Amino acid sequence: MSDDKGIRGGLTNYGDKDFAEYLRTSFARSMGLSKEILSKPIVGIAMTPSGFNNCHRSMSELVEAVSRGVLAAGALPRPFPTISLGEVYLNPTSMVYRNLMSMDTEEMVRAQPMDAVVLIGGCDKTVPAQLMGAASANIPAIQLVTGPMMTGRHRGERLGACTDCRRFWGKYRAGEVEKDEIEQIEGRLATTAGTCAVMGTASTMACIAETLGMSLPGSAAIPAVHAERLVAAEYSGRAAVNLITNPRRPTDIITEKSVENAYRILMAVSGSTNAIIHLGAVAGRLGIRISNERLNQISDETPVLVDLKPVGSGYMEDFYAAGGVGAVMRELRHLLHLDTVNVTGQVLGDRLESISHWVDRNVIRSFDDPVSEHGGLISLGGNLAPGGAIFKRAAATPELFEVEGRAVVFEGLEDLAKRIDDPDLDIEATDIMVLKNAGPVAAGMPEAGYLPIPKKLARQGVKDMVRISDARMSGTAFGTIVLHISPESAVGGPLAAVRNGDRIRLSVKEKTIDLLISEAEFISRINDTATPKKHKRGYRALYDRSVLQAPDGCDFDFLTHAGTFQK
Ligand code: FES
Repeated sequence: MSDDKGIRGGLTNYGDKDFAEYLRTSFARSMGLSKEILSKPIVGIAMTPSGFNNCHRSMSELVEAVSRGVLAAGALPRPFPTISLGEVYLNPTSMVYRNLMSMDTEEMVRAQPMDAVVLIGGCDKTVPAQLMGAASANIPAIQLVTGPMMTGRHRGERLGACTDCRRFWGKYRAGEVEKDEIEQIEGRLATTAGTCAVMGTASTMACIAETLGMSLPGSAAIPAVHAERLVAAEYSGRAAVNLITNPRRPTDIITEKSVENAYRILMAVSGSTNAIIHLGAVAGRLGIRISNERLNQISDETPVLVDLKPVGSGYMEDFYAAGGVGAVMRELRHLLHLDTVNVTGQVLGDRLESISHWVDRNVIRSFDDPVSEHGGLISLGGNLAPGGAIFKRAAATPELFEVEGRAVVFEGLEDLAKRIDDPDLDIEATDIMVLKNAGPVAAGMPEAGYLPIPKKLARQGVKDMVRISDARMSGTAFGTIVLHISPESAVGGPLAAVRNGDRIRLSVKEKTIDLLISEAEFISRINDTATPKKHKRGYRALYDRSVLQAPDGCDFDFLTHAGTFQK
């Protein structure tokens, strides 16, 4: 092993290299490590357990299994913590802290002596943060996910977080479910370790990590509590050691072609809208940018093949049993870049050639018999979204695809909370609900784009309405919802100009969202917008100063590939 590898890598600077090595070895031996094992290559294991992250409950056994694989392959495993982001425990929203976690991951991977790293994440923001950090640190890295939860049961029905959380909450709001039943359901929605049981953001990011080539083939969908999950962890440890002798770095794996493949799979699994932002941020770390036009082209060419909630009917455990990401890829073979390579060194074309499993066609359809002909997500343009917006057509109501309606405007999250259930709210089912000031700069871009149907309409049986905002929405949600409008209203984006009673037109066919006022009126209204208040200290001040808009993945300007070269 060369001098700057293993325990001798990146020595602490005392001005005396030999002393730094002597001191480090001496301190490492205080952990009960022999001289012999300290002479081996080192695989870091970025672990993210937390009392505030139920999705990572199985972390300790995953770390043990990865360590086993590393030891068996002849290297020294060294687990280390980074921050962990449990989606539902963070205020104002986990999105604010994704970049902090990516910085933590990047810096700890780079600063500590490791020759390769296995990154273990799962909950929504953790996998993107780890991939972003790994891409920037650019040492050999493998992503391992905690895996999805199994479903629970309620009165003979399967339940899975968190599409069913929303479905039953909607019924409760509409008066269709009583208080005692909603309380009973609370304990039945999330019953095992692991990430949300549907094709939400966590599962979508797991599929993306596998498609990019950063995770072991076949590993994305294995349930968190399945023995195969631990086997995948052990193999991830072994593969990380192999990456030291046959170095392949994230820059060799995350390329424009593998990013395009990932967008393709995102469309075919009808994945989360959030994944558009996260994949954009990962790619942006390496200077890769897929345009909105290309995104729409990929979407139009790629059918939805997977029948899972929130769009369809199955859960992640069904997807795993049906064949997982590999089965989807085989159906899309003719559309994928087959010369991309994964962390094992395997070329995608060879992977798809060599595996041929039984596929459950109820869950993963063939290319010729898709769930729907076109991809789940599209980018919208139009005068309200000059930088683009995202629309999950697969989760929307087709009757609302070509509509013009009256705007009912909520000026921000507080205004929404205050007025949405006001019996005097002037709103009808054909109106278009507009939420402003919920973008990355104004509010950290929370998952508030799934505006609730006002109680008085819900009780009349209204299930869906057109809703538009600069916010995000949970990957487990559904509805006719336009998200990520860019630029956001708080930085003077056109959304800021919308007023109550204006007319708005949505056309999915033309892929546009437009405010029907004159250009002069538009300009005069925009000039009136106030700039948002900024934090003065700490991480939030850094966030306010540096966060980019949705098309740049809401990364920080100084962390992107372009930012690397800024003075
Ligand atoms: Fe962690 Fe859904 S809350 S994945």
